[in-house]
Amino acid sequence: MSAKKKEENTKIKKNKNTAKTPVIDDTKKIVKKSGSKTNKYDLLRGMHDILPADEKYWKSIYNTTTSLAEHFLYGRIETPVVELSNLFIRSVGKGTDIVDKEMYLFEDNDGKKVCLRPEATASIARAYINHGLWNKPQPIKLWYWGPMFRHDRPQAGRYRQFFHAGFENLGAIDPSVDAEMILLAYNILFKNGIETIVHVNSIGTPEERERYRADLVTYLRSKRSYLCDDCKTRINKNTLRVLDCKQEQCQPVIEEAPQILDWLGEISKKHFMTVLEYLDELGVPYMLKPNLVRGLDYYNGLVFEFYGQVGEEGAQSALGGGGRYDYLIESMGGQPTPAIGFSLGVERVVNAMKKKEESGEKIIKEKLPDVYFAHLGVDARRVLLRIINEFYGSGIKISFNFFKESLKSQLESANKHKVPYVLILGQKEVQDGTVIVRDMESGEQEIIDQKKIVKFLAKKVEMINKVD
Ligand code: HAM
Repeated sequence: MSAKKKEENTKIKKNKNTAKTPVIDDTKKIVKKSGSKTNKYDLLRGMHDILPADEKYWKSIYNTTTSLAEHFLYGRIETPVVELSNLFIRSVGKGTDIVDKEMYLFEDNDGKKVCLRPEATASIARAYINHGLWNKPQPIKLWYWGPMFRHDRPQAGRYRQFFHAGFENLGAIDPSVDAEMILLAYNILFKNGIETIVHVNSIGTPEERERYRADLVTYLRSKRSYLCDDCKTRINKNTLRVLDCKQEQCQPVIEEAPQILDWLGEISKKHFMTVLEYLDELGVPYMLKPNLVRGLDYYNGLVFEFYGQVGEEGAQSALGGGGRYDYLIESMGGQPTPAIGFSLGVERVVNAMKKKEESGEKIIKEKLPDVYFAHLGVDARRVLLRIINEFYGSGIKISFNFFKESLKSQLESANKHKVPYVLILGQKEVQDGTVIVRDMESGEQEIIDQKKIVKFLAKKVEMINKVD
């Protein structure tokens, strides 16, 4: 060992012996090998924060979802984020991407095999059985809003935690329910400025699908050499998913493939045609997609996906999707129960809304403040906080900035936001128990008793809103 190395070694040993409990600075930046600075607590890949700047989009989608749910008589359900992993393995199905590749699986402290839910339909089917909802008048109409988890390869519009806005209707077989589902999803998107086209298909009953699958396997085996490697293994493992492959080399084989609609029996065909008649009546634009099979095993009959218009965000990746799952509840130990549902990917809808706004379209109309509260001095600030609190619940939208000291800059803010009234509170007003109300259009000012200010401004604002 060289003398230098020896010296270093003894230094390390010495340090070890004299070391006290290290003080960890949680906020310290660490430097990556590449030299780029990164925080120790960077976000996990595929996860994202939702910041206040995006709140208007989330709020708008949420509000449309809740008001449609109320109008169409759906009740809210919340299921846990953590469930037994078998719930999804059995329902979504082995051989699907979600189960084979994307589940966040772990053992909990009791050694139970659990997962972060990758979707909520299976949880809702479980809840339907657990709570004996089949005993209640059918159908049971439910909606939900919450995070889902899939350990997928992150890319634009694909996250590892994302939100679903979803609706499920359990206990009804009538085609009107299928149409209602599509209408609900269409409405949520349309009311948020996104024009969509719904891709529809029917994948029939399990027996019809099995007969079709057998013929499809024969066809695909004859074309095996033209398929990508993934599809070669899918032929036997998950045949129908070949139809969903996006690889260029598989497209000619997919285009020539037999179509499931030709394998449907009379009942399935009639059901599907009736749903289309409903969509015609409702004016919901749709496109028949014989290759649409969806990536989850529990479906039968009608399946659908929503896409934005060509060239727009959402044109390539689905904004939402769903379908019938008439056999799921029975397969989980419940009564035979027809069911249908859909979920929208909220982040994808938000992205589509943002894209539209970037191109100059105003989607969200934000209400501007009715009154700006300006103040001068520390005493005024104390009184102002009380007045701000008194305005809560008045329906008057206010704005203020405690940290702008000069009256001039506060009035500039008010002007910038075209606020019709400014309330001014200085040292004199604090002593007198009054406030000054300035009409920003006419420049006129009135002195009002602090105790009467909420009522006074409520009248003024009501008058403006009437004129608008
Ligand atoms: P899904 O097609 O797997 O269906 O998901 C629905 C929507 O969630 C997709 O169309 C997409 O917009 C969004 N989504 C899926 N994965 C991601 C991701 N990694 N990042 C961002 N968004 C994503 C279901 O989950 C079914 N449970 C739908 C359903 C309800 N069927 C019947 N009832």
